[in-house]
Amino acid sequence: MSFTNETEKQQFYMDKCREIVKNKERTLGRKLTACVVTFGCQMNFKDSEKLMGILAQIGYEETDDEHADLVLYNTCTVRENANLKIYGRLGYLSKIKEKNPEMIIGLCGCMMQEEHVVEKLNKSYRFIDIIFGTHNVFLLAELLYERFISGHKIEDIWDGTTEIVEDLPSVRKYSFKSGVNIMYGCNNFCSYCIVPYVRGRERSRNPEDIISEIKELVNNGVVEVMLLGQNVNSYGKTLDNPISFAQLLERIENIDGLKRIRFMTSHPKDLSDELIEVMAKSNKICKQMHLPLQSGSSRLLEIMNRHYNKEQYLVLVEKLRKAIPDIGITTDIIVGFPGETEEDFLETLDVVKKARYDSAFTFIYSKRSGTPAAKMPDQVTEDVVKDRFDRLLSVINEISREKTAVLEGTTQEVLIEEENKKIEGYVSGRLSNNSVVHFKASKNDIGKIVHVYLKEAKGFYYMGEMVE
Ligand code: 5AD
Ligand code: SF4
Repeated sequence: MSFTNETEKQQFYMDKCREIVKNKERTLGRKLTACVVTFGCQMNFKDSEKLMGILAQIGYEETDDEHADLVLYNTCTVRENANLKIYGRLGYLSKIKEKNPEMIIGLCGCMMQEEHVVEKLNKSYRFIDIIFGTHNVFLLAELLYERFISGHKIEDIWDGTTEIVEDLPSVRKYSFKSGVNIMYGCNNFCSYCIVPYVRGRERSRNPEDIISEIKELVNNGVVEVMLLGQNVNSYGKTLDNPISFAQLLERIENIDGLKRIRFMTSHPKDLSDELIEVMAKSNKICKQMHLPLQSGSSRLLEIMNRHYNKEQYLVLVEKLRKAIPDIGITTDIIVGFPGETEEDFLETLDVVKKARYDSAFTFIYSKRSGTPAAKMPDQVTEDVVKDRFDRLLSVINEISREKTAVLEGTTQEVLIEEENKKIEGYVSGRLSNNSVVHFKASKNDIGKIVHVYLKEAKGFYYMGEMVE
């Protein structure tokens, strides 16, 4: 067989698998089901939509019940806990497979890029049928076909890739909003972080491919896109015709029918004045910035290899607030990085108080083998970390509460995202700054942008009333 490109090749394997699945359906007298379980970040979530897209094309019916004919875990390894969770869940899956030996179990994602993980899986979790990594998500149909034909376990992990395969199917979880990859990988090598090792080097998609994907999404009812990359601010620098992230945003802004643009993640070292200007004058870019701090201590930031210091970070926050006064700023903070002293920690608290985050994700430092930080001395003891973590959280929560209260009594544009899980007849939606509001509306309005009066700030969310 010869193919003109990878997409065509994978299409061929999807058709082949489809025939096999059809035969199985005939034998069993029912449809086959597939369940893709996502762990970790928005990137993985997006990859899972692509994986489910391929499985749907092959003929599997999507289910979220793990008693399925095919179960695929898309794994995360950013912190140790993520790994432990997978091993625990695999024990449970093996019990399900004992009752259904025909069941296919696949594992993919960041954890599979670690040698010691795959070794452990091969030794102690022998019931797994397919293992692949982050660089060859597009190969699922081919790997599944090999598994069907050979009857053996299939393992295919790539060290890296420069390839970006376009135009494969995707099943979206939401009809009205979608993540859009603009780049893959990371070149920053923050000293605590495993992502550059498991996601490979940074590579940007061509702007034309991004724009045409978004146009297609808009034609299919999408009003909000979330542009995804580990460091969106360095988008486009290595393309044959380099363009900046701000220029990409301007081109996306011109897409008719698209109403909201979000993006993550921004690295403070690369956040340009050009981007702030484009955001300030835009009608579509949401007033939201996720700007990971990691630590407020300039000493630790240097050891973390972050390429900015406390003062530079605070200047950025000031610039953002001046240019876009009602912007919601959120962050990531790590507590207990090796060698973190009480003074370092107090610097972090100081930045939190000055930056006044709308919300923050706080993480206890987790040692990832293979990263430089894993070998650093003075790993902070558990009780000290716990104490700092609690103190940090209480400052963050208090500020979040105060910040949420500022918009109480105003009317804001809200994208209705889902039925409220707790209150019958209510829906939940998001403001431009990413805050959540619950209010009475029909579930038929999901996907619409409406005006909502923010009647009561409840700490981290609002109760509101629709005004139109
Ligand atoms: N330990 C704790 N948190 C980490 N993060 C990345 N690596 C680690 C680690 N080893 C956090 C960072 C990053 C977020 C996605 O996860 O704060 O911004
Ligand atoms: Fe990890 Fe740093 Fe890259 Fe973010 S920028 S993915 S924290 S290495």
